[in-house]
Amino acid sequence: MNPDRRPLIAANWKMHKTLSEAVAFVESIQKETGPLADREVVIAPAFTALHALREILRQKGYSLAAQNCHWEEKGAFTGEVSPAMLKDLGCAYVIVGHSERRQLFGETDETVRLKTTAVIKAGMDPIVCVGEVLAERERGQTFEVVRRQLEGALRGFSPAQMAGVVVAYEPVWAIGTGKTATPAQAQEVHACIRAALAALFDKTIENKIRILYGGSVKPSNIDALLSEQDIDGALVGGASLEVGSFKSLVQFTI
Ligand code: 13P
Repeated sequence: MNPDRRPLIAANWKMHKTLSEAVAFVESIQKETGPLADREVVIAPAFTALHALREILRQKGYSLAAQNCHWEEKGAFTGEVSPAMLKDLGCAYVIVGHSERRQLFGETDETVRLKTTAVIKAGMDPIVCVGEVLAERERGQTFEVVRRQLEGALRGFSPAQMAGVVVAYEPVWAIGTGKTATPAQAQEVHACIRAALAALFDKTIENKIRILYGGSVKPSNIDALLSEQDIDGALVGGASLEVGSFKSLVQFTI
């Protein structure tokens, strides 16, 4: 972590929690942690809970994210949700290009770019996910894959458009497997991402952008991960589903 960047802990609930479960969780986590001044917490529930959570997610330091969106503003796209609809619901962020969307729903670097553009245009900040699969890591292609995904998503943006972008490094082999990248493994990829941002944009952007780590983040490993220079927070799946473990993550200390 670097004191110039505000740490961000994001809960990606994926396809978990009904409306009443989501509301109960958010009521208790706000009660348990109180307002937050030096860190930011983002909750990304299913679309079905966004409206209700907007009404109760009022505490300082907390904001709301969607897990996906379409890139068009409106139209005949049955089942899709537009960035404007999400902005209207009070979302500050949208997760874009999660590996589950890439692997299970055919997202490509190009659709990730279209979505990233649409989210920025609608006035929200994208959380752009990148990460290699195990075979790519074993072939020594991690840096190449991550650079390609970043360029695919972010090429052509102006520094002003980039100001609020968040990048999440999520090695696919670490997601939901209990196998976390070691802090050193994660740091080396985060440093590569920061260098790639410097090459694509400039020093100001390189130093400003927050890069989250995701993949089996737990209360037992968050402090060590966030102690690394270029790790500015976490994108958490499994351990964000229980109030007790998520509270410990929010209360990380380094
Ligand atoms: P887990 O924390 O369950 O490994 O999931 C990580 C993730 O995919 C967050 O987006």
